Amino acid sequence: MGLQKKKWSVVVLVVFCMICWSFSEYEKDDFSEDTPISDVLLDLGVHLPEHARPNADEATIKRGYELVHNGRTIGPDGKKSKYISKYFNCTSCHNQVQEDPILNTIDPDARLEFAVEKGLKFLPASTFYGIANRESWYNDDYYKKYGDLVIPANKSLAEATQLCAKVCSSGRCLEDWELEAILAYYWSLQLKLKDLNFSESEKTLLMNASDKEETIAMLKGKYALRSPATFGEKPYNYLEGYMSIKGNADKGKQLYKLSCMACHQAGGVSDITFDYSSLTFQKFLRQIDKSGNYNLYEIIRHGTYADKGKPRYMPLYPKERLSDQQVEDLRAYMKSAS
Ligand code: HEC
Ligand code: HEC
Repeated sequence: MGLQKKKWSVVVLVVFCMICWSFSEYEKDDFSEDTPISDVLLDLGVHLPEHARPNADEATIKRGYELVHNGRTIGPDGKKSKYISKYFNCTSCHNQVQEDPILNTIDPDARLEFAVEKGLKFLPASTFYGIANRESWYNDDYYKKYGDLVIPANKSLAEATQLCAKVCSSGRCLEDWELEAILAYYWSLQLKLKDLNFSESEKTLLMNASDKEETIAMLKGKYALRSPATFGEKPYNYLEGYMSIKGNADKGKQLYKLSCMACHQAGGVSDITFDYSSLTFQKFLRQIDKSGNYNLYEIIRHGTYADKGKPRYMPLYPKERLSDQQVEDLRAYMKSAS
């Protein structure tokens, strides 16, 4: 009888310890829903990338924030720095918060819905939120626009930042301290565990992490490791538009408001201002079958090009940022409102 009792208490003790162990396994690293992805990956043996700035202080991050939002900050010498660009801030083209409701799914229609819900702009370039968790930049068709400049930028977030500061923003190269500050700011905008919407089985895998490779693959499958870019074609026939696609005027209205007007409202980054009057829409519709900047298909798919005399330019929208369907939505809206 006594022996039986002892056996039971040993079993209870072992089970108790197993439970404790499994909890401590989860808690030893203090993971919470706000834990940045890189902490979890580091724990799984994945080294930090070159652009990681885990020890950046608050003052440096704040400088990065100001450079991105205002184009200048107070430098290490205590003086106001020169503007990065006279024409744009980084935030003219890049959001700073999550844009895709499901982070591993590139779906411009879902992104628009999310933008409406959260009151975000719908912009041609990708968000800085999670930019430090990506593994390549200026992907795919961007080489068609920037040629060999994308070779270093594709592999390095620092190089991509320099390319964008100088070329995409019609500005200048960053000084070392400015680049450091912006990298520190990106690092503070990492994806968090709570952003990844884990299923129950994925949570279990993450907590046990018995198979590290599998856990890493699962984790990296939960968000986009790169921002893909396919430059769209113009339709075969302008009047017919993109074949067999019927535009949705309501969605077109949202697009016009959150996308075009983000830059073209009075006081925006473009000198050319649009409004919601039928006159404005008639101008676009009159040009729909003519080649030129007011042709909706051409302006969206090609943008305009910056040159010395005219440094303000419009970035093109790749299909992943504005789909063919959405171009037709915009056209349908303009027609309904003209
Ligand atoms: C006029 C628009 C514009 C401005 C202003 C601008 N960018 Fe960009 N940027 C782009 C476009 C377009 C891309 C193409 C890739 C993407 O983000 O989809 C890009 C890409 C990038 C990338 C690579 C992102 C990726 O995942 O491919 C970085 C990094 C970047 N920009 C940093 C900056 C910084 C820092 C500033 C401010 C100093 C800035 N950009 C200002 C338009 C702009
Ligand atoms: C990131 C800012 C930005 C966004 C977003 C944007 N534009 Fe532009 N757009 C510009 C800039 C800058 C120019 C260059 C003209 C200038 O201001 O000097 C321009 C030029 C144009 C022109 C040519 C005007 C001319 O006379 O040559 C048209 C038309 C136009 N945009 C339409 C649109 C439409 C339609 C949308 C929405 C799908 C849109 N833009 C979204 C910044 C933007």
